Amino acid sequence: MGHISYEKIKELPPMPQIAKKVIDLLEDPDFSFAELVRIISKDANITVAILKLANSAFYSPKNEIVNLTQAMSYLGVKAIKSLVISLSTKSLFNHGRVNLIDQKLWEHSVATAIMSRLIMLKVDKKLVEEAFLLGLIHDLGVSVMKMNIDNYDDILQEVFNEKLNLLDLENDRVGFNHAQVGSEVMKYWNMPELYQDVVLNHHTPENSENTSLVYVLYIANNVLKELGIGIGGYNENFTECLEKIGLDLENFEEIKVMFTEVYKSEKELFAI
Ligand SMILES: [Fe+2]
Ligand SMILES: [Fe+2]
Repeated sequence: MGHISYEKIKELPPMPQIAKKVIDLLEDPDFSFAELVRIISKDANITVAILKLANSAFYSPKNEIVNLTQAMSYLGVKAIKSLVISLSTKSLFNHGRVNLIDQKLWEHSVATAIMSRLIMLKVDKKLVEEAFLLGLIHDLGVSVMKMNIDNYDDILQEVFNEKLNLLDLENDRVGFNHAQVGSEVMKYWNMPELYQDVVLNHHTPENSENTSLVYVLYIANNVLKELGIGIGGYNENFTECLEKIGLDLENFEEIKVMFTEVYKSEKELFAI
C-alpha cells in the first residue's frame, strides 16, 4: 500500500461488483444503454432506488416514472453511476452488527451526499454528481479503520460521547487517519485523482486545489454535524468558507430549507 505506513490496515475492501461493472461499461465511449439497463436490472435494490429517486422531490418529474429504462434516461448516466456506487457501497458501512454509531455514520454520509449536491447546484452544475458521490464516500476510511484496527470502536465512542475531533484522535492513537485511508481506497478502486484528493483533504480543504468540490464537501460535512447528523466535533466557523465557493449566508439558508425537504424524501432510499 501507499507511501504512508498503514501496517495496521490488513486489507482494503474491493470495489463492489456491480459498481465495477457499471464503471467498466461506461468507460467505453460506445457503451450500450440497453446493456447498462440490463446490468442494473439484476439488482433489485438498486432498481427500486433508481425508480424512487427519479420520482423524488429533487428530480420531480411531470408524470410518474414507472419503469427502469424511463427512470434511467430521465436521471442520466452520471446520476445513475453515482447512485450505483453509493448504494453498493452501503454494505461497507454495515458489516456485522449495526450499532448506534454505525447507524449515525451512515446517516451522516447520506445527508452529506444530499447536502453537497444541493450546495453544488448553486456553485457549479457540472459537478453535482461528483459532489453527491464524494459526500457519500468521504468517510469510507472510518469503516475501513473499524474493520482493521482493534480499539477503533473505543475511539469512535469517545469522539461521540465527548464531541471530540475524530481526525486528531486518530492521528494521536493510531498514527494515521480516516481521510488518508479513504483516499487509499479511492486509489485502490482506480477512482480519478480528483476523488483521491478531495477525500484526503475533506478536513483540510486549504490543502486541495479542487476548491469547489472540497469546500462544498467541507461545508456540508460541518453543517450536518451542527445539525446533529453525524458524530464528533466540527469547525464552528465553517460558514466563513462560503465565500470560497461564491455563496453567502442568505444562499446557504435557502439551501438548508431545501435540504430538509429533500432529505425527508430521499433518506429512505438509503435506509440501512
Ligand atoms: Fe471525515
Ligand atoms: Fe464526515
